[in-house]
Amino acid sequence: MYKLIVFCFSSVAALASVKAAFPPPCDSEIYCTGPILQQVQKAKLFDDDKYFVDMKLREAPDVVLSAFRNLSHEFPNTTIPSAKLQEFVSAYFEEPGTEFESWTPPDWHDEPKFLGKIADQELRDWAKNIHDLWKSLGRKIRASVKDHPELYSQIYTPHPVIVPGGRFRELYYWDSYWVINGLLLSEMTDTAHGMIQNFLYLVNRYGFVPNGGRIYYERRSQPPFLTLMVESYYQATKDKEFLRAAIPVLETEYSFWMQNHSVAVKVNGAEHVLNRYYVRVDLPRPESYTDDLELAEGLTDGNSLLQLWMDLNSGAESGWDFSSRWYMDSGGHNNSTLREIRTSQILPTDLNALLWLNEKTLASFHRIMGEYMSTARYDQAAARRLAAIESVLWDAERGAWFDYNLVTHSKHFEFYPSNLSPVWAQCFSLPEMGEKAVEYLKRSGALQFPNGVPTSLSDSGQQWDYPNAWPPLQHMLISGLSKLPSEDAKKLAFDLAQRWIKTNWLAYVKYEAMFEKYDVNGDGKPGGGGEYEVQLGFGWTNGVALQLLDQYGATLTSGSQSVFSGLLPPLISAILTLQLTRNKI
Ligand SMILES: *[C@@H]1O[C@H](CO)[C@@H](O)[C@H](O)[C@H]1NC(C)=O
Ligand SMILES: *[C@@H]1O[C@H](CO)[C@@H](O)[C@H](O)[C@H]1NC(C)=O
Ligand SMILES: *[C@@H]1O[C@H](CO)[C@@H](O)[C@H](O)[C@H]1NC(C)=O
Ligand SMILES: *[C@@H]1O[C@H](CO)[C@@H](O)[C@H](O)[C@H]1NC(C)=O
Ligand SMILES: *[C@@H]1O[C@H](CO)[C@@H](O)[C@H](O)[C@H]1NC(C)=O
Repeated sequence: MYKLIVFCFSSVAALASVKAAFPPPCDSEIYCTGPILQQVQKAKLFDDDKYFVDMKLREAPDVVLSAFRNLSHEFPNTTIPSAKLQEFVSAYFEEPGTEFESWTPPDWHDEPKFLGKIADQELRDWAKNIHDLWKSLGRKIRASVKDHPELYSQIYTPHPVIVPGGRFRELYYWDSYWVINGLLLSEMTDTAHGMIQNFLYLVNRYGFVPNGGRIYYERRSQPPFLTLMVESYYQATKDKEFLRAAIPVLETEYSFWMQNHSVAVKVNGAEHVLNRYYVRVDLPRPESYTDDLELAEGLTDGNSLLQLWMDLNSGAESGWDFSSRWYMDSGGHNNSTLREIRTSQILPTDLNALLWLNEKTLASFHRIMGEYMSTARYDQAAARRLAAIESVLWDAERGAWFDYNLVTHSKHFEFYPSNLSPVWAQCFSLPEMGEKAVEYLKRSGALQFPNGVPTSLSDSGQQWDYPNAWPPLQHMLISGLSKLPSEDAKKLAFDLAQRWIKTNWLAYVKYEAMFEKYDVNGDGKPGGGGEYEVQLGFGWTNGVALQLLDQYGATLTSGSQSVFSGLLPPLISAILTLQLTRNKI
């Protein structure tokens, strides 16, 4: 039924019907396909397309569908007027957010120990405020979602969650890695445990972790961080029983990535297997429906249209939605735009570094359990991947790793922090590769900004590009540099941590809020661009700030204090000069 899609957009009218090759984003004829979604989104009743698909049904889906058919019959051969659609939506949908109860994590307490490691008084008070924010980001899903899933786009999960904040009213996959690490510092082990149990539950249900806790995300994933979440939790608790139960589920997720997201690539006569983002959905994303439709305007060939939507979905799976990184001609030099997105034709460095880390971590989990055959199996997979990364992605001349384009059979040499992701994962065979990567970073032009390392150097208007800096990318870069043996790399790691903390702090002082991203210029300016307004909250920002404050608490200062300490030397010398003058008199 979903295979025949009728487009009403004028310029795609030529494509009266296009056969989608893949299933729709989900099976719901209200939230993921069908005339209600199409007409309501196109009427732009709400500022953000996500708003409508987050609404709860007041009646069973077949009643709502029948009512809509009846309404359509009142307007044969014409679109339903906005006011009538608005009336229909009010009658049959509730506003978003009703599926949650606010929930205060019971394991939250006042004085987690890491606060004591923060020397700077202002930063310590601020860290306490960030620690307080967990209470406002806690959500529990109502039992009615479990009893009547057909009325909700929300996916039921058994344990309460910490949400990112703002429009992101549900759990998100890769965000939660930094949230969980923050929670563990805040000594909220039970909350972290519950979040991980939710992800394990989702793998048991879907075979992988969906992008987030909504049915319209259920056919795409996000960067696979679950194994690392379990590793963080195990390091904090040494809970072997938990680990034993989690391992087979983590292996299911790993198989999903290897079966559904890997591709063989031949370089210099040798064949290697590497991974990519690849979503088998070729329809507009329900939560960004009109954006995806508008982007397709003017495309006259059905295959290009389906390919565009498939690569937009794949871009969303990468977590970098969107970025000139995924353009066929990365960086947008050839005047390419989001329309030239080809995510699925690019082998990303960070995904492969992350999967190498998954393999090493799964090997270590099996070693803990005394299962040496399985340990060897994952160690071998990691060794194969390392060889692939070094053959396909490493560039000795430039001294870094670069995404590989499967169509042009060449690397994309633009700067992205992900070009150093193997340093973060520590997956490189020769120590000098790490040091070469530091030299690459210094030459890249990406260190010249006062407020963080930008996502790229291309000002494309997309949110995963210049001038935006994102917390997870700062953290991966800093943590990678801090693990290199050279003092130079460690010093650079601290310097970047100081810049990032100062940025977060200045914005906090100004807005009393934490943001999902920041501008690399402007001393505490939130980021912008992309499909929606910058969001407050914010899960991973808080997690990254707490981790940096923990790692560097002894030496970090808030921006305001460094201004003060910058004044101190001249003040002291002025006093000394005064005293010397007095002594002379
Ligand atoms: C739609 O119209 C039919 C026929 O008039 C009616 O039986 C049905 O109740 C209507 N559905 C709704 C939901 O109003
Ligand atoms: C709607 O269009 C169809 C086919 O184009 C036509 O047969 C029908 O008479 C139209 N109905 C109205 C009410 O205009
Ligand atoms: C993954 O691939 C397998 C085998 O090719 C297929 O049966 C399955 O439907 C795919 N799963 C998803 C979620 O795409
Ligand atoms: C750049 O644009 C030209 C002209 O449209 C085209 O022929 C060429 O293939 C493009 N290059 C890439 C890498 O997309
Ligand atoms: C990009 O497009 C602009 C305006 O159309 C043009 O002036 C410029 O030369 C183009 N640049 C490239 C690299 O094609």
